[in-house]
Amino acid sequence: MNVLILGSGGREHALTWKIKQSLLCDNLYVAPGNSGTSQIAENVKISVNDFEALKHFALEKQIDMIVVGPEDPLVNGVYDYFKNSKTTEHISVIGPSKVAAQLEGSKDFAKQFMFRHGIPTAAYESFTSETLEEGLSFLESLNPPYVLKADGLAAGKGVLILQDLAEAKTELKNMLVNAKFGEASTTVVIEEFLDGIELSCFVLTDGEDYKILPMAKDYKRIGEGDTGLNTGGMGAVSPVPFADEAFVKQIEDRVVKPTVAGLKKDNLPYKGFVFIGLINVNGEAKVIEYNVRMGDPETEVVIPRLESDLLELLVALDNGNLNSQNLSIDDRAATTVMLVSGGYPESYEKGKIIIGLKNVEDSLLFHAGAIDKDDEVVTSGGRVMAVTSYGKDFKEALKTCYASIEKITFDKMNYRKDIGFDL
Ligand code: AMP
Ligand code: GLY
Repeated sequence: MNVLILGSGGREHALTWKIKQSLLCDNLYVAPGNSGTSQIAENVKISVNDFEALKHFALEKQIDMIVVGPEDPLVNGVYDYFKNSKTTEHISVIGPSKVAAQLEGSKDFAKQFMFRHGIPTAAYESFTSETLEEGLSFLESLNPPYVLKADGLAAGKGVLILQDLAEAKTELKNMLVNAKFGEASTTVVIEEFLDGIELSCFVLTDGEDYKILPMAKDYKRIGEGDTGLNTGGMGAVSPVPFADEAFVKQIEDRVVKPTVAGLKKDNLPYKGFVFIGLINVNGEAKVIEYNVRMGDPETEVVIPRLESDLLELLVALDNGNLNSQNLSIDDRAATTVMLVSGGYPESYEKGKIIIGLKNVEDSLLFHAGAIDKDDEVVTSGGRVMAVTSYGKDFKEALKTCYASIEKITFDKMNYRKDIGFDL
């Protein structure tokens, strides 16, 4: 099979690494890819949102399957673009249709879906500029902290959690009236605050059946002890110690089953990964959000624990035979620590030469914001490199991660030294 992977982060390098190992895989391409994917596949200079260029490329190289990494092309309808044309409808696209991708593309859509299907989540109301006054009164009726969410995609920045009522009111106005997040905040979801510890659940579905992948937990804040600004993710662990068998069963029964049944009932075509962001509130799993893709950096710990052939699973998924597959999972823990550019998630410099990668023997290196330049690997983004290790438990795996990191350096390199601190 010829496979094209869309994206350029650590998640896509991990997916490429895994699919490359499949006996079913002939030619493997990544658009646009990075310095990690270039070592094991062919990078193609096409943007993930340039559907026409992707179509030409797919036809020229006789691509059989497209695996979509990030949410953007999914929310923009890449699935439908390929499925609605006679020349490309035979190509498998791993991901939801445009209408189903609203589970991530619109918080209001996702909340309505959850309420319609009885899936546990925070209470909420949605507001627009026309209902601003009602929104302000609604805030007055709540207790702090106040959770305000831009309805649309806002590059992970659209959620505000505020302690102060006056500030919450000002921000609601900024979002609805002053377009703080552009079109994404035309509608704002105001939500009940949930207090608990978060985890990420990944599901493969063909719209009919499902397979639950290993649970993971990511660390979003830049600072140690989960302080400071939000990032794309500074590290991750899998499995999640507090997600024992009973808790996973609860998630399956109360969240995964009604989600997959809901997709079918609502006629939302979906053949891909569902990422369910959960929070454990005193033993009750509640959904914080849906994403219609794998997580990053969770993929860098979940995929290394998958022993089954991922491409075989994806073929079965596309054929609607997911149920015929058995998942085989590595018992070991996997952890990843993200090396980031100094200054990230605020402004940072790029083009720093990364030294020492070849000296790392005990960890997997998934390149993220890193590209090839003049025979060197240089930084090209905020999150630069995910250092993944295995261990008998997450503590042992992390020890190996941190030992490997000692061998890598670049100017102003930063990383969190306390991944897993709360477990
Ligand atoms: P989201 O983009 O919906 O995942 O929100 C980003 C982050 O905000 C989540 O990972 C949570 O840490 C936090 N968050 C979102 N909604 C809530 C909520 N209702 N209660 C508490 N924290 C929340
Ligand atoms: N790690 C969180 C995300 O991928 O959205």
